[in-house]
Amino acid sequence: MGLLSCKYLRFFSTHLKSVTFRCVALLVIALVLRAVAAPLLTGFEFEYDKILFIHSRTLHLSSELGIRRAKFLEVPQIIWGLNNQKIAFARACLTARLLNRTLLMPSLSASLFYKEIDLLQPISFDKVFQFETFNSLCKGFVQLGRYSDVSNRTDVIELQKGSGRRWTIERDLEQLVQFSKDPYDQQEIIRVIGKNPFLWPDHWPVKDYAKVFECLVLVDEISKEADRVVSKIREAGKELRSKTASDNPISEPVPVPYVAVHMRIEKDWMIHCKKLEQRSKISEICSSRQEIMQRVGSIAGQQAPTAVYLAVADSLLEDNSILNGWREGLVPFEKNKLGVMEIYKRYPYLIQSAIDYEVCLRADVFVGNSFSTFSSLIVLERTQKMIKMGVTSFCGMDIRWPSYAYNILGEPNGPRRWMTNMSASSLKAISYGSNDVSC
Ligand SMILES: *[C@@H]1O[C@H](CO)[C@@H](O)[C@H](O)[C@H]1NC(C)=O
Ligand SMILES: *[C@@H]1O[C@H](CO)[C@@H](O)[C@H](O)[C@H]1NC(C)=O
Ligand SMILES: *[C@@H]1O[C@H](CO)[C@@H](O)[C@H](O)[C@H]1NC(C)=O
Repeated sequence: MGLLSCKYLRFFSTHLKSVTFRCVALLVIALVLRAVAAPLLTGFEFEYDKILFIHSRTLHLSSELGIRRAKFLEVPQIIWGLNNQKIAFARACLTARLLNRTLLMPSLSASLFYKEIDLLQPISFDKVFQFETFNSLCKGFVQLGRYSDVSNRTDVIELQKGSGRRWTIERDLEQLVQFSKDPYDQQEIIRVIGKNPFLWPDHWPVKDYAKVFECLVLVDEISKEADRVVSKIREAGKELRSKTASDNPISEPVPVPYVAVHMRIEKDWMIHCKKLEQRSKISEICSSRQEIMQRVGSIAGQQAPTAVYLAVADSLLEDNSILNGWREGLVPFEKNKLGVMEIYKRYPYLIQSAIDYEVCLRADVFVGNSFSTFSSLIVLERTQKMIKMGVTSFCGMDIRWPSYAYNILGEPNGPRRWMTNMSASSLKAISYGSNDVSC
């Protein structure tokens, strides 16, 4: 639009010399263009949450200086759950930044079988996230490279990550600083060997991680699958409303809002969280199915009836108990009931998880567990998205994309409002082993 109006302005300005005339012409052009563009925009309104979301990603990090393109960092395969992998990837990027090197595009893992190394199913980063988009959004901050960019693959120095109790966070940082100097710095590739980056000591503030996460955009194929799931949920919500509102046909807000709940009640988690409660002497980690339903049901300001998407482990899809017992007006759906199982089934674990993540991220209301990395990263991205829109106070009632932690009691008898503290000095403070929800 900017280009277009410039072109027209130049055309007019050769004919109209007066400054006043130019201004009037500019105003008219602006109004005409707005009138032309407006119906186009409303036509796409059903996707406006996505547009806003994409818009919020176009951040610019131009204040930063560049990263060297001919020096590389290589890291071990990135493993475990989707969010462990995202954190590990961000940590590898930030390590590369510290060394002022381009990160060689690492392998992610498509499966969750971390105990058997041969079942790890490496999957290239660019099969999941857009490579070029990553580099353009993160330009000047961190940079990804391909192996074909390397000129001499034998020009490698290995960096063995230390381990054990005596390997402190300070020693780890010292080692990195040492590798950012000669003679190591001259080597074309620094190859980190040892543990997967998720286990590396954390030297970076939350806002640095948030910057890297913002540059991670799913490839079209996967994001289209997430679109399909989201529109199924919204359709279901619309249907619910049209049934009850037949005598009162006021037009519904577009798009029909939905709630997403990351429900962690599978057996492994319940055992793990009970142990965690004993060890850390914190009582608000585990929530039963009943507690989750009751607290989600107490969230004020919901226009009944509303579709609730339940992001749950596959093992919980076998019986229908998670669908029963919700308060009137909250209608739960999972993959089976929504009829989207065939979408998920086509993909390995990592992609299924990425789709669920996206569905929770775009929900109008998100409710998760503050001890879960999956939930924590969703809240981090939702907080970041609102900061981009100029929201400064997250804990009040009336914001566009509220998030809650169901494992912590809030007002009145509902889940606690949750936002990410972007000033936290390390990721640990906000993402795991923490019930600090800043509200
Ligand atoms: C990386 O190195 C380049 C070239 O030496 C320099 O201009 C740039 O400021 C450095 N970037 C960072 C983030 O240190
Ligand atoms: C590649 O790097 C190795 C190790 O630094 C060096 O011995 C070799 O001469 C280099 N090869 C080329 C073609 O520069
Ligand atoms: C956010 O974290 C900073 C740094 O740790 C801390 O000083 C501040 O009190 C925290 N804010 C909230 C609202 O928890």
